[in-house]
Amino acid sequence: MQDPLSTSPHARAVSGVFGVQPAEGSSELLYVLTPTSCLLVGPQNLVSITTMSLSPYFVASYLEHGTWFHQELSDPCIFKLAHGEPLWKLAEHDASFDALINNGMVSDTSFIMDIAIKEGGGVFQGITSLIDVAGGLGAAAQAISKEFPHVEYTVLDLDHVIAKAPTGTNVKYIAGDMFESIPRANAVFLKWFLHDWGHDDCVKILRNCKKAIPPRDAGGKVIILDIVFGAGQSNVKHTEVQASFDVYMMIINGIERDELEWKMMFSEAGFTDYKIIPVLGFRSIIKVYP
Ligand SMILES: C[S@@+](CC[C@H](N)C(=O)[O-])C[C@H]1O[C@@H](n2cnc3c(N)ncnc32)[C@H](O)[C@@H]1O
Repeated sequence: MQDPLSTSPHARAVSGVFGVQPAEGSSELLYVLTPTSCLLVGPQNLVSITTMSLSPYFVASYLEHGTWFHQELSDPCIFKLAHGEPLWKLAEHDASFDALINNGMVSDTSFIMDIAIKEGGGVFQGITSLIDVAGGLGAAAQAISKEFPHVEYTVLDLDHVIAKAPTGTNVKYIAGDMFESIPRANAVFLKWFLHDWGHDDCVKILRNCKKAIPPRDAGGKVIILDIVFGAGQSNVKHTEVQASFDVYMMIINGIERDELEWKMMFSEAGFTDYKIIPVLGFRSIIKVYP
């Protein structure tokens, strides 16, 4: 049988996930890692979040896009159309799905947080207490605490997530619902989940954040790590990635937002000022002040 690699080496390397180069001293071609596939190896790799994104739970939802376009649904959630219930409901009772989400988010957090702390313009400096809302298993709080050990850290998430939180860390875990109330802290951290929710839900969450923090002159602020459509580098690849995330978020009725859409939510929730700091590719830190 003919080796397909020898006939069409670029077929597998065309997307840039792998490269192809001749082996030393031989005419044989070998696959090599590229900057993209390097993200799938090493200690802070993105394997779990890639596995999550490509899992049948999400891919099956993608396949419902056609039905979604053709139907007038009372509840326009593609994930619900594919699985019979919304994502966070399924996670409550499907342990393997819950683990897929939690581990996926931990892998993303372990990768991005060091960069966000370094590139975030000192956003975590001077904080005395920080609550990570919808903070999952607490990987972000743990990463920030390595750099700023004297801060009091709390993670708020749903019951079934907090039940699996690690023990023996300097992070306190609280089970609760961010739509009801958020425990008080000097600063609130919101990492990569507001794009799961529509405008009105985000305004509710942000209003609860505002109630949880002191005024700006006493150090109160909300720190968001998320996508700001159009922020950061301006090139086609960058725009394509942001747009593909937007389509991805459509599955759960989520959305990626540009600066104006973020600004409208901040002012509706009662905040007076904000600053966007692009930190890596399509990800930005947004500092929001009461
Ligand atoms: C996309 S994950 C983000 C986790 C974490 N912030 C991160 O980036 O690694 C969204 C999180 O929101 C949590 N969540 C969903 N609804 C919630 C609610 N009503 N109150 C608190 N947390 C909630 C989920 O359990 C999940 O951990």
